[in-house]
Amino acid sequence: MWPLEQISRLERAEALDGPAAAIRTRVRKLLSDRRVEDALHGVWLGHPVHPVLVQATLGTLVSASLIDAVGGRRRTSTGLIATGLLLAPPTVATGWTDWSTSNPDQQRVGLVHAATNAVAISCYAGSLVQRARGRSGRLLSLAGAAVSAVGATLGGHLAYHQSLGPNHADRVRDLAPHDWRSLGALTDLPDGTPVRREAGDVPVFVLRRGSEVTALSDSCPHLAAPLSEGEVIGSDGDRRVVCPWHGSEFRLDDGCVVHGPATAAVPRFEARVVDGDVQARIVESAGAPTL
Ligand code: FES
Repeated sequence: MWPLEQISRLERAEALDGPAAAIRTRVRKLLSDRRVEDALHGVWLGHPVHPVLVQATLGTLVSASLIDAVGGRRRTSTGLIATGLLLAPPTVATGWTDWSTSNPDQQRVGLVHAATNAVAISCYAGSLVQRARGRSGRLLSLAGAAVSAVGATLGGHLAYHQSLGPNHADRVRDLAPHDWRSLGALTDLPDGTPVRREAGDVPVFVLRRGSEVTALSDSCPHLAAPLSEGEVIGSDGDRRVVCPWHGSEFRLDDGCVVHGPATAAVPRFEARVVDGDVQARIVESAGAPTL
């Protein structure tokens, strides 16, 4: 299919890696305050904020273009463009934040997505300036809608084809066995170091501390990194695992997100030891998404 082939080429366009690395360094510097970064990712919301803001911004701007296209009230379309441009900065900030913790193929597509949207926003800003000078500004408004359609297609590809944003651990509750499954002998588990075990076909993060065992899904909800390769930090009551890929932190007691980029909790397993055999079964309720 034509658009998919073209966008797939973008995914592999290594020429974009240099600019992506330079921009990423700057974005990460701006995100030195973890509370700000978490807020922009949407840890407080339980899913990414960027798509929510995109709906509002794009919906407002494209509505203005539609009014211009059918010769509707200029005052209404001008108000919508001004509103859309006011919504653009937080939308852009959340987009760059999510982008800065994505994989290289996602960053390549994301870079073109951002550049396209920058052109669209410039068209709408130019249209607003023209209106302020007493001219119609319709052509630039229509051009903004056309360019936005390309940006939205790339954004859709990032979200639905490359899966940047969805919860990568959600299906674990459906796929994991709901009865107790053996994870092996307690004495085979190292004390204080997480390991990966299997419950049915589902990988499980297992941490033994003395005779106590903690079990979570081994797939990070952000982009499915193996959490058993992450570092365990904190002390009793506030022990967390740090994802090895982009540094999300999850509380071991309940799998809740402490820091993003992940916005969803890690599915938790109940664990017990029976005659020296460690057993686990999935906890069915989703639980609270964040602290
Ligand atoms: S895969 Fe990105 S934070 Fe875990």
